[in-house]
Amino acid sequence: MVNMVIVVDGPAGAGKSTVAKGLARKLDVAFMDTGAMYRALTLKALRQKLNFEDEPALVKLAHNTHIDLVNEPGKALKVLLDGEDVSEAIRSVEVTNNTFYVARTPDVRHVMVEWQRQLGSRRPMVGDGRDLGTVVFPDAQFKFYLDADFKVRCQRRIDELKAKGQAVDEAALIKDLADRDQKDFSRKVGPLKKADDAIVIDSTHMTIDQVIETLYRYVKK
Ligand code: C5P
Repeated sequence: MVNMVIVVDGPAGAGKSTVAKGLARKLDVAFMDTGAMYRALTLKALRQKLNFEDEPALVKLAHNTHIDLVNEPGKALKVLLDGEDVSEAIRSVEVTNNTFYVARTPDVRHVMVEWQRQLGSRRPMVGDGRDLGTVVFPDAQFKFYLDADFKVRCQRRIDELKAKGQAVDEAALIKDLADRDQKDFSRKVGPLKKADDAIVIDSTHMTIDQVIETLYRYVKK
């Protein structure tokens, strides 16, 4: 029997991770945060002070790295970088702003795609990312493309950071998100793109719970 994979793609700040996580919990399947994998490799490159323009070095790094995502009932997803829990460390602004170097390198993406397919073949899951419906899992049972107005996506990110007690430079965050959109949409390999057969959900005027419920209804139909 084919393993069930549900994918949620979309731009940064649309709520993909929260929605994919919530849907996975509701369906009692695993959650795969593919952005976390790009972030983990970026963290390792930063720690090793690699030159981000040196693509062969990034590819070599990817081949010499083991990233795992651990789903434990009732707990947040754990991201393991060579066995070390980096779930918090990968959320820094420095990692966020350097991930695009790793994400734009075609041979790094090939490695990531292989890892993601392996994870997706092990057990039923909901994954979130940019290219899951188009490249990684073109045969996914359900493909969702989650979008929201740029202003709303910025505000959600600001609220999210404030809720964590972090100081927020709002102007810088807005600029960073616009830059990230531009880079995600224009990358030559694995750009952010709606799959032709994806169901588009505009979450601009919806709460997270409403979005999760909407996706859940599609899956259960
Ligand atoms: O989803 P998140 O914002 O954590 O992703 C971090 C970065 O990783 C994105 O800006 C994007 O460039 C990259 N990414 C990607 N392909 C994916 C998931 C994330 O290129 N499937």
